[in-house]
Amino acid sequence: MASDSPGPNAHPVRIEEQFSRQAKIFAEAPELHGEAALALLVEAAKPRSTDETLDVACGPGSVVVAMARHARHSIGLDATAAMLVEAQRLARAQAMPNVEWRQGDVYALPFDSDRFDIVTCRFAFHHFERPAAALQEMVRVCKREGCIVVCDAIASDSPRKAEAFNRMERLRDPSTVEFRPLEALLALFAGAGLPSPERRFFQVPAEREQMVKRSFPAGADYDGLRRVIDTSVDDDSMGLGARRCGDTVLFRYPSVILSTTKAG
Ligand SMILES: C[S@@+](CC[C@H](N)C(=O)[O-])C[C@H]1O[C@@H](n2cnc3c(N)ncnc32)[C@H](O)[C@@H]1O
Repeated sequence: MASDSPGPNAHPVRIEEQFSRQAKIFAEAPELHGEAALALLVEAAKPRSTDETLDVACGPGSVVVAMARHARHSIGLDATAAMLVEAQRLARAQAMPNVEWRQGDVYALPFDSDRFDIVTCRFAFHHFERPAAALQEMVRVCKREGCIVVCDAIASDSPRKAEAFNRMERLRDPSTVEFRPLEALLALFAGAGLPSPERRFFQVPAEREQMVKRSFPAGADYDGLRRVIDTSVDDDSMGLGARRCGDTVLFRYPSVILSTTKAG
């Protein structure tokens, strides 16, 4: 019988569609893949030369390559083949011999339990429908005394602003499930039985036209996306500190790196 409700695979299909289109342009964003942004994650994970690291939902692989400069071996896993093509290109360009790429799903990592010294995930939890299950899988494949790092943008503590931010993001990228406030991310760590994580806060700068150019909004509604960003200036309705600058709008994504140790 025909049904209008989304099937069980609707979300993975949205992920594949969005990130196949975004892969090349996402890989070129300097504010995400530049040295300064990557150094923050490396500082949180503290890779050593004997470590094996895993980055889940690795996208174009910049985190994996940054970790591999310090580690023995680094694996990146992602659901989207086009992202892994970008990752392979990056590893070739930087002549990194100690990296490996796997296509797969964060909810069923194709690795033995207690294998990796460090397991990271950056800017992907907002795409997960089951973030607790994703974190549990990361913990499973991490060694005892190993390091777990989750980095994502965070929504405002104001439910009204958080909802407005998420509405804009779902328009901009329909594979977004939800950006969560800090407390919700911390609750995931507690729920996974992990010690309270260290927190490092930073901001990812954004400019309206650059962002629109990199986006594939629902219904190709580029003007709608511009409008939502523009109107957020008046009362900071999304909690992104949007401000007019000439004929564009500047804003920033408040973000956090949470790092902790799996109990021994
Ligand atoms: C915004 S990108 C972030 C990429 C990368 N972590 C970074 O920071 O540059 C999100 C990535 O999550 C991946 N992804 C989403 N859901 C996934 C899942 N269930 N399993 C594996 N990868 C997934 C997408 O394919 C995409 O490459």
